Amino acid sequence: MTDYLTIDWRGRDRGRLERMRSLFLARSEDGEPAATGDYWLTDRDLELYDATYGARIGWKWDSVLAEALAAGLGAGSAAGEAWNVVDWGCGTGIAARRAFAAGLIPGGARVFMDDRSSPARSFAAGRLREASAELDVRTGSPPPGAAIDLALISHVLSELDTHGLDQLQALARRAARVVWVEPGARSIARGLSEVREGLLATHLPLAPCPHSGACGTLAPGNEDQWCHHFPEPPQEAFIEGFWARFGQELEIDRRSLATSFLVLMRRDLAPEHDDDPTRARILGRPRIEKGKATADVCDASGVTRCELWKRDAPRVWRTWKKASRATLDYRFEREGTRIRRVLSGPGVDGSTDTADEE
Ligand SMILES: C[S@@+](CC[C@H](N)C(=O)[O-])C[C@H]1O[C@@H](n2cnc3c(N)ncnc32)[C@H](O)[C@@H]1O
Repeated sequence: MTDYLTIDWRGRDRGRLERMRSLFLARSEDGEPAATGDYWLTDRDLELYDATYGARIGWKWDSVLAEALAAGLGAGSAAGEAWNVVDWGCGTGIAARRAFAAGLIPGGARVFMDDRSSPARSFAAGRLREASAELDVRTGSPPPGAAIDLALISHVLSELDTHGLDQLQALARRAARVVWVEPGARSIARGLSEVREGLLATHLPLAPCPHSGACGTLAPGNEDQWCHHFPEPPQEAFIEGFWARFGQELEIDRRSLATSFLVLMRRDLAPEHDDDPTRARILGRPRIEKGKATADVCDASGVTRCELWKRDAPRVWRTWKKASRATLDYRFEREGTRIRRVLSGPGVDGSTDTADEE
C-alpha cells in the first residue's frame, strides 16, 4: 500500500505547494524560459514536490516507459558493461526511479543525478539509493567523453535559455538512448518536436512517432498542431483521498496528464526500420460528434485532420468516445481525410481494449 506524505494543508506546506504550482504552471503556459535560479528552497520543498507534482510526473513516466520498452529501447545493452545513465535536471529524481522500476536501467548501472541545484542532486541520489542497492548512484555529470547509455530528461525544457538547451541537446546527441518527457502544453510540445528534428540525423525516433521523417506538426500550415498525449493515471488517482484533497486544494485536475515525450535510440543500435505508411498516431484527443469523430492524425505523410465515421469502425468510434485509451496508436487505411479501415489499434477486434457497448 502506498504511504502518502502527511501535508499540512492549513500551514506552510500549502504555501510551498502553491509557490511551486505557480512557478511550473506559469512556465508551461507561456513557454518563456525562466530567468530565476534555484527554486528548491528547503528539503521540505523537495519532499512535497516528490509526493505530489513529482508523483504525477512519475505516472507519465510509467506510461512512456511502457511504450519505450515495447518499441525496443531496452535492447543492445553490451553484456558485462555497466551502463552510464544520467537523469538531467533530475529534481527529486523521479525519472530515474521509474526507469529503474520499469526495468530499463540494468542493475550495476552508474546513475548520475545531474541538476544545477545541489539539494536536488542529493535528494534524488538518496531516494534512488533507497530504491535500489544494485545501482552505483552518483551526483553531478558523467565524465566528459564517457559513453552515455541512457539519458532521462523530464520537465526542464521551459526552464532553459538557449545556452542550457544547447548543452542539453549536446548531451542527448551523446546518448545511445534518450527518453524525454515534458508537459503537453503547445509551446513546450512544439519545442520538443524541434529537439527531435535536431537529433534525427543521429537518432531514430521510436515513440510516439509512427514514422521517422520530419515532424508533421512543424510543417507550414500546422502551427496550431502539437504532439501531445494523455496517459491514463493509475487507479489511485481516482480512489485515494490523498489525491482528491490534492486536486481540491490546488485546483488541479488530477485525472488529466497532458504529456509530450520523445523516445530515441542512436541509429547504429536501433532495430532495422522501415516506415509503415499505414501506421498512425492520434495527437491529443479525438473529438466526438454524432455518428463520427474528428482526430488529428500523425503518419508518414504528415499531420492531417481526419474523420472517422462510426459506421466504418463502430468499436473504434466507441473506444474514442470513452476516451479511456492513453495510447492511440493505429494502422489505418485512408481515403483523403476519411479513415476508411482501421487495421489495428485500440478498439479493433482482437486488441485488448474492451470498449463498452453504447
Ligand atoms: C520542474 S523540475 C523537474 C524535475 C524532474 N526532472 C521531474 O521531472 O520531476 C526542473 C529541474 O531542472 C533543474 N534545472 C533547471 N535548469 C537547469 C540547468 N540549466 N541545468 C541543470 N538543471 C537545471 C531545476 O533545478 C529543477 O530541479
